[in-house]
Amino acid sequence: TALTLLMITSAYLAGSVSSAMVVSKLFYLPNPRMHGSGNPGATNVLRLGGRLPAVLVLLFDILKGMIPVWLSYYLGLSPLMLGFVAIAACLGHIFPLFFSFQGGKAVATAFGAMLPIGTELAGALIACWGIVVFVTGYSSLAAILAVALSPVITYFVKPEYTLPVCMLALLIILRHKDNIVRLVRGQENKIWEKGRATG
Ligand code: G3P
Repeated sequence: TALTLLMITSAYLAGSVSSAMVVSKLFYLPNPRMHGSGNPGATNVLRLGGRLPAVLVLLFDILKGMIPVWLSYYLGLSPLMLGFVAIAACLGHIFPLFFSFQGGKAVATAFGAMLPIGTELAGALIACWGIVVFVTGYSSLAAILAVALSPVITYFVKPEYTLPVCMLALLIILRHKDNIVRLVRGQENKIWEKGRATG
């Protein structure tokens, strides 16, 4: 329907606002696409500018996923359509219209898009991410594992969202292909390291 298309388009546009780029400009930080890991996301802004800008990036990127999905939910979109809205927000983040289509990995945006599913899922994902980062120091590995866990938890708490969450999870994991290669080679950047490889 027209409403669904409108929500998908707005989600893509909201996703296209690269908070890492905007916040880095505001704080006079190095361009996250050219420094550190080269990824415009909260992890790399943490490397380049410390906690405050990173938290702001995280927050805005989460809202980009959360607001469109929540609005669409209240407008009565089906679980599958909510999945497309979530994917549109993430595609905006990954291929931003306003930043030469060079965006991030959409971890925070996907997390935000899944938040309306409930606190059990959110809690499990935060715990998984936190433990993996604490143990390994790899933000990418933590994101990949948390995202892989998300359909399983969703199946138990809100089974009707399992398929859309699976699609979203697949997108995020595919987007981490360069990180996966670096992890396998033992060359991945830790969350607190400045980073050598890009992608
Ligand atoms: O979650 C973003 C993260 O997965 C990877 O960031 O900068 O380590 O490639 P980065």
